[in-house]
Amino acid sequence: CEKQERRPSRQRLLVVANRLPVSAIRRGEDSWSLEMSAGGLVTALLGIKEFEARWIGWAGVNVPDEIGQKALTRALAEKRCIPVFLDEEIVHQYYNGYCNNILWPLFHYLGLPQEDRLATTRSFQSQFAAYKKANQMFADVVNEHYEEGDVVWVHDYHLMFLPKCLKDYNSKIKVGWFLHTPFPSSEIHRTLPSRSELLRSVLAADLVGFHTYDYARHFVSACTRILGLEGTPEGVEDQGRLTRVAAFPIGIDSDRFIRALDVPQVQEHIKELKERFAGRKVMLGVDRLDMIKGIPQKILAFEKFLEENPTWRDKVVLLQIAVPTRTDVPEYQKLTSQVHEIVGRINGRFGTLTAVPIHHLDRSLDFHALCALYAVTDIALVTSLRDGMNLVSYEFVACQDAKRGVLILSEFAGAAQSLGAGAILVNPWNITEVANSIAQALNMPSEEREKRHKHNFLHVTTHTAQEWAETFVSELNDTVVEAQLRTRQ
Ligand code: ADP
Ligand code: G6P
Repeated sequence: CEKQERRPSRQRLLVVANRLPVSAIRRGEDSWSLEMSAGGLVTALLGIKEFEARWIGWAGVNVPDEIGQKALTRALAEKRCIPVFLDEEIVHQYYNGYCNNILWPLFHYLGLPQEDRLATTRSFQSQFAAYKKANQMFADVVNEHYEEGDVVWVHDYHLMFLPKCLKDYNSKIKVGWFLHTPFPSSEIHRTLPSRSELLRSVLAADLVGFHTYDYARHFVSACTRILGLEGTPEGVEDQGRLTRVAAFPIGIDSDRFIRALDVPQVQEHIKELKERFAGRKVMLGVDRLDMIKGIPQKILAFEKFLEENPTWRDKVVLLQIAVPTRTDVPEYQKLTSQVHEIVGRINGRFGTLTAVPIHHLDRSLDFHALCALYAVTDIALVTSLRDGMNLVSYEFVACQDAKRGVLILSEFAGAAQSLGAGAILVNPWNITEVANSIAQALNMPSEEREKRHKHNFLHVTTHTAQEWAETFVSELNDTVVEAQLRTRQ
């Protein structure tokens, strides 16, 4: 209570993430339109309401000319967003290269891309240099907009170098860093050539947060084993300075989803979908088309289910909505062709003249269409091979209070720790197990569905994005105050 009184009511929050909540599309020399970006980070941060928040991030496009940059800066200002302009070469080396070809697969235990492992190893130094340069460019923009008393909240693996850059400018800035992916075992992290530099940069933050206790534990052991620092129950200590490390499980703005179900347009859409799939159970996958989401594994498990359960063949349909992502990275291009090939083969094998078992869409759906789809679904399939949290599973639960469908959830998603009691947990690598869980879900008695749904619905509606953000920022404020008190003693 005493700690709460020290905080002003609407604190200014500078949210710094590689991806802004809107992506820009150029319409003319000085005109831009803005579209919602996809991804869990954006979904969660849109749920933050308590703070006077400004976003700083990359606009997702190359804007080489001054006229375009000025116009885009103005358009983004209306959304309280501030752009960081990165040129093509930096984006190639920093975003496509170091972030998405090295850190992303490594943090999800997938190792470096198989075929170009040596090439990746060779280009490592230049990509890491670009990563540091990009982080410095973000730091310059933060510095330009920082006002005394602001809290700076840095997000994700793209910006691990930023806490250090910010503290080098001004050691008094309150800096928090939150990772939206898993943090892997220290045995994985230690294979990174830049392992120590990254850890030390993150440790410059006052508070470091993860989705789960396990990820936090892995981070602390990486610091103790690789840097030789002391891990304490509070975090990591280096020469008397403590960096607080803790778990802050993320959530969604569940009210936004629940309210959407009453919108007439959504109701109409629900009606159409029910008519369209009458007589068939609807199974749903919603993912970015990313190798960590286990989309091929999910589809192969569905094929196995169809193989072993001929009576269900014309009574069930799988809708897989897969929004393309990071399309300049070769591994993602390969995945797209692989998924298309498997879907085509299975539809050829089990389809009829009038129906196919899998509807696969390579695109994103708008918010209302997505809510309608969640609401009519009987079974949601989340088969991530690893996933920091997985908010699709939360969104599905929020939209299911009428239907009480079943969630089949990978045990390797962070969400398994919060929704595990209500979901059917599976190992996505074991397609027989996933196929059996589909049969179990289809045959589940309504009382059991009700019980499982209630458990998850309670969690999703009480552990919201807003609560997550408030807890993190409040802890960050407290950590800084406590550190000041310690240095005065
Ligand atoms: P990630 O952050 O790895 O993409 P999450 O499941 O945590 O995974 O979050 C994904 C977010 O992106 C969710 O809010 C989801 O609704 C949205 N999303 C993913 N795929 C699509 C799609 N095909 N159409 C619309 N939204 C999507
Ligand atoms: C994950 C990452 C986010 C990222 C999102 C979409 O959720 O944790 O940082 O924004 O994927 O990926 P993209 O590369 O399009 O930003």
